[in-house]
Amino acid sequence: MLKVIQITDCHLLPSGETVFGSNPETRLRACIADINRNHPDAALCVLTGDLAHHADPRAYAILSNCLRELVIPYRLMMGNHDDRAALRAAFPEVQMDEHGFVQSTFVTPEARLLFLDTTEPGVHTGAYCERRRAWLKGRLDEHSSGTPDYLFMHHPPFAIELPHIDQYVMAETDASALGDLLRQRRAPRHIFFGHVHRPVCGSWLGIPFSALRGTNHQSWLDFHAVKENICSLEPPAYAVIFIGPDRTIVHFHDYMDDTPKYVYDPSAPVEHQVRPLVSIG
Ligand SMILES: [Fe+2]
Ligand SMILES: [Fe+2]
Repeated sequence: MLKVIQITDCHLLPSGETVFGSNPETRLRACIADINRNHPDAALCVLTGDLAHHADPRAYAILSNCLRELVIPYRLMMGNHDDRAALRAAFPEVQMDEHGFVQSTFVTPEARLLFLDTTEPGVHTGAYCERRRAWLKGRLDEHSSGTPDYLFMHHPPFAIELPHIDQYVMAETDASALGDLLRQRRAPRHIFFGHVHRPVCGSWLGIPFSALRGTNHQSWLDFHAVKENICSLEPPAYAVIFIGPDRTIVHFHDYMDDTPKYVYDPSAPVEHQVRPLVSIG
């Protein structure tokens, strides 16, 4: 099985600054330490956008410093809070297409990962234009090996039925054009999103998808709020993705959870079935 890690929505700020009372750098460093401890065998870590909260060069410098600690390769994606030029200044090696969109592929024997840039400067909604359509169509057309595709993008191209998030998903006409292309070509086996700051899964046009919490703050599950973006400090998470010939498995790990853990043995006598777990890897 191919193992891939997904981190999303780090929303980094200059050193020491907080957002919603939480320090995004501290939480990202804890995330990277947990990945290094538990998943040094992963093939790739994908950061699905909103890397910096205000696209401050000092925040990208912190990201670069944090990622120096990560023991597995990584791929950066743009979110609506990011800036292409600032990202490129901090990461000159970031992969862009000929039009400057931060999009690329990652090929392994088990899968091909496609990273689609859905951001548009100055707006928080997602975008997909003719040039991005040409890039994605080109990738889908050139690929005839039979290796399945897995698509990563920051914005969902559909409403997730949470109005305060849905005002910031991909613009409807762009989403419809993307849907048309995926209907015409061999569809990816799964789409992985950032942006929504919540664990959400389901399918779109028959394609399974998943999204997860960010590493700093989250979107509260409020179905009544419409205009106000309701954020929370529910625990941060990262995703552990397994890709095999017959299945795609996505686990969400609340890596800062410090509640007690127990060993449970239902076959033992009742008084010995539960014991505290002393150490956990
Ligand atoms: Fe975000
Ligand atoms: Fe976002």
